[in-house]
Amino acid sequence: MLQHVTATRYVTPLREGGSLPGIVEADDLGTYVVKFRGAGQGSAALVSEIVVGELGRRLGVRVPDLVLIELDAEIGRREPDQEVQELLLASVGLNLGMDFLPGSIGFDGMHWQPPAEEAARIYWLDALTGNVDRTWANPNTLIWHRKLWAIDHGAALVFQHSWPAVPAWAARRYDLSKHVLGGQVGAMPAAELKAMDEQLADAVTPEILTEVLALVPDEFLLKLNSAPADASAAGLRERYAEYLLARRSSDRAWWPESAV
Ligand SMILES: Nc1ncnc2c1ncn2[C@@H]1O[C@H](COP(=O)(O)OP(=O)(O)O)[C@@H](O)[C@H]1O
Ligand SMILES: [Mg+2]
Repeated sequence: MLQHVTATRYVTPLREGGSLPGIVEADDLGTYVVKFRGAGQGSAALVSEIVVGELGRRLGVRVPDLVLIELDAEIGRREPDQEVQELLLASVGLNLGMDFLPGSIGFDGMHWQPPAEEAARIYWLDALTGNVDRTWANPNTLIWHRKLWAIDHGAALVFQHSWPAVPAWAARRYDLSKHVLGGQVGAMPAAELKAMDEQLADAVTPEILTEVLALVPDEFLLKLNSAPADASAAGLRERYAEYLLARRSSDRAWWPESAV
């Protein structure tokens, strides 16, 4: 289970992306970057954050701790900024928080490079989950304590918006040419890339996917805009597992054999 906390104070919005995540303090004295279910993509972005973030963690990618954070209407009513107030009031109930990394800086590839093997893990996770949101325009990687952390997995798993045929999604090519870590991964010897691919694919087992999907609250799944009216949370979890397993069991033509 993800830890469950209650928001005590809305601190400030992060106006970088479009979804207006905010910094929030909680009753465990933690400070979190919160993704609100009332934002544009609704709960789909929150599902993707949990599934991709927690799968990544199990594949050896550094991801800030995730929590489920309960938001009371009172916090919204006290908020003077109208845009933020509307978002908070549309998000009363359960939301997703990630541990705020104080003093972290955005990765820019200029002054410091992560170990190639770490870059390749993130790159593989993004290719598996179809995450197009880790480009130079939007690096979504932070350097904190001289280590690389992966954030912002809300735009992955695009199948959840339209539920296309599983084999088609599983075989979909993935444009990694603008990926922030592409240059580094491309410089790895082909044999290492192949070994990495095999190692990570072996780690994506049905059991791991079940474990990760169990962390998603039922209500996030049932509130998906694309969920059929008669869908059950268990049924939807099976669907997610089916897509991800099919992609990892495919010939993985989406993974580069050599330099990109
Ligand atoms: N856990 C975190 N610790 C510190 N800063 C963060 C954290 N998560 C996000 N940020 C900052 O907030 C920005 C927006 O968060 P992000 O998750 O990328 O959302 P979006 O791009 O959807 O607005 C990031 O680019 C980063 O600068
Ligand atoms: Mg972002």
